[in-house]
Amino acid sequence: MENKLKRPFVFLCTGMSFDGKISNYKKDCSPISSCDNREMLYDCRVQADAVMIGGNTLKLDDSGLTVKSEERRQKRVALGKSPEPIKVSVISDANYLQTRGDFFDKGDGRKIIFTSSQTSQEKIDEIKKKASVFVTGEKRVDIEKALEILQNEGIKSLMVEGGGELIASLLEKDCVDEINLKIGNLLLGGRTTATLVDGEGFDALNAKKVEFLKVDQYPNFLIIKARIIRD
Ligand SMILES: NC(=O)c1ccc[n+]([C@@H]2O[C@H](COP(=O)([O-])OP(=O)(O)OC[C@H]3O[C@@H](n4cnc5c(N)ncnc54)[C@H](OP(=O)(O)O)[C@@H]3O)[C@@H](O)[C@H]2O)c1
Repeated sequence: MENKLKRPFVFLCTGMSFDGKISNYKKDCSPISSCDNREMLYDCRVQADAVMIGGNTLKLDDSGLTVKSEERRQKRVALGKSPEPIKVSVISDANYLQTRGDFFDKGDGRKIIFTSSQTSQEKIDEIKKKASVFVTGEKRVDIEKALEILQNEGIKSLMVEGGGELIASLLEKDCVDEINLKIGNLLLGGRTTATLVDGEGFDALNAKKVEFLKVDQYPNFLIIKARIIRD
C-alpha cells in the first residue's frame, strides 16, 4: 500500500512507573518495575527502521539502541530490514556532545543526528566522522522537517523511546500514531522528574486522545497498546 504520510509511521515505546515517571529524581536510567526486564523494548526495536531519542536521553543514558540478540537481528533481516535499526537523536545544541560512547560506537546501526544552527561547523564536522548530520532549525530542531528527511532517507517506521520533551514535541505537531507503554509497579515521585509527556502541556481543548487497543497484565507491569485518535 502507498504510504501517504510525509513522514514515517511514528510509534512510541516507553516504560513509565505507576505514577507516570520515565526516570527517577536522580535522572538515572531507572527501573520502572521490580524485577524489570527490557524485552519489550528490544522486541519493539525489531519492528522499527529507526529508533529516535531526545538529546537529554542521549547525554544521560547513552544507550547503544541495539536489538541485543542474534535472534532479533535475524528477525529484522527476515523482515527486509538492516540487522540493527538506524539510531537517531535530536539535539539543539550539540557543541558539548561526546562523540564516544554506546550510541556512537556500539553495534553496526547507522547514526543520524539532527541539530540546529546553534551547533558550530567545527563540531558538525567532528560528529560527521561518526554520523550523518542534518541542521534543521535556528534555535531548536524543526521536528517536522526532521521526520520528512527521515522519510526521504527511506525510513518508513520510526520508534521513539523518549524522553518527555521529545514526545511532547511530536504530539504538539500531531506526529505520533501509536503508543506502546509499559507501566511498572514502582512509584518514583519527584516534582521535576521526567514524565511520559512533558513540554508546555495541553489544555482540555487540545489534549490528545487515545483508543486503547490491547492490555496485557504481568506480575510487575502492564503493557498497553493504544493509538492516537484524530478527529
Ligand atoms: N523510561 C523510558 O522508556 C525512557 C525512554 C527514553 C528516555 N527516558 C528518560 O528521559 C529522560 C530525558 O527526558 P527529557 O524530557 O529531559 O529529554 P529528551 O526528550 O530526551 O530530550 C530533550 C532535548 O532534546 C532537544 N530537542 C531538540 N529539538 C527538540 C524538539 N524539536 N523537541 C523536543 N526536544 C528537542 C531539547 O533541547 P533544547 O531544549 O535545547 O531544544 C532537549 O534538551 C532521561 O532521564 C531518560 O532516562 C526514559
